[in-house]
Amino acid sequence: MSSSSSSSSSSSSSSSSSSSLPPQTLKIGIVGFGTFGQFLAKTMIKQGHTTRATSRTDYSQLCHQLDVPFFGDVIPFLEADNDVILICTSILSLSKVLNSMPLRRLKRHTLFVDVLSVKEHPRNVLLQVLPENMDVLCTHPMFGPESGKNGWKDLPLVYEKVRVRDETRCSSFLHIFESEGCRMVEMSCEEHDKVAARSQFLSHSIGRILAEMGIESTSMNTKSFETLIKLKESAANDSFDLFSGLFIHNRFAQLELMNLEQSFEKVKQRLLKKMSEQQSHRSV
Ligand SMILES: NC(=O)c1ccc[n+]([C@@H]2O[C@H](COP(=O)([O-])OP(=O)(O)OC[C@H]3O[C@@H](n4cnc5c(N)ncnc54)[C@H](OP(=O)(O)O)[C@@H]3O)[C@@H](O)[C@H]2O)c1
Repeated sequence: MSSSSSSSSSSSSSSSSSSSLPPQTLKIGIVGFGTFGQFLAKTMIKQGHTTRATSRTDYSQLCHQLDVPFFGDVIPFLEADNDVILICTSILSLSKVLNSMPLRRLKRHTLFVDVLSVKEHPRNVLLQVLPENMDVLCTHPMFGPESGKNGWKDLPLVYEKVRVRDETRCSSFLHIFESEGCRMVEMSCEEHDKVAARSQFLSHSIGRILAEMGIESTSMNTKSFETLIKLKESAANDSFDLFSGLFIHNRFAQLELMNLEQSFEKVKQRLLKKMSEQQSHRSV
């Protein structure tokens, strides 16, 4: 038995996070069966894990097609024999969803895993609402249904073992991603949010700004402009809830938005200064 604390700020890339025991087949209960929950479930089912789902929307028909039991009522879902409860709700609804779950109904020690695109927020909420005997693993698969549609090879899975006593179960869960060829990146939630604000949030923001400007492909696209079109389209694939969650629940994203605004203003001022220099030269 071992546990690792949430205070670690080290970041590292590792090819294997497995314990020495072979990976277990897991019973995984998914909370939030929207786009991303369904996307993850398909690979878990393919690997032979058992999945079941609960969600705000009634997905019973879709679940029937996937052979995934759907629970409209959260109580029998919690009372089902889950090794892992996988939280795939939106960033904005996380607190409400978790606080509305009667967690005392859990019959056994369970590993709670979240996949939210911010990390300090779910870590704090999970530590606050869960009984002490529940394990917590915070993850962020840095890909989605579009970028991962042809497999997950070399795509990063960022994770922090926030409170893990059952290492075998945790390793078995991480093995789902390892065995698909993901690049396993162990990193504190704080470090994740810092880096993601300057990479993922920034690219989403620029993509949204380009969409707001209504840029479209032309008959004379440069390669750089094609990159901008792709950025615009990629931002549009994610819900506005997801994008606003990246901003509201990542303290570093708020700094980066200010940074973006100030940098835009600096570039604009340099251009205006140059223009006025040119105009004064012409008038001499
Ligand atoms: N999409 C990606 O590429 C990607 C990649 C990595 C991580 N993630 C993370 O995965 C999670 C899910 O992402 P997503 O792409 O599926 O879209 P999303 O818009 O971020 O979340 C949709 C999910 O949240 C649930 N939800 C939204 N508002 C709710 C409310 N008020 N009460 C209860 N449930 C609510 C939805 O339930 P219903 O469907 O039942 O309405 C659905 O399951 C997010 O936390 C996101 O940050 C997404």
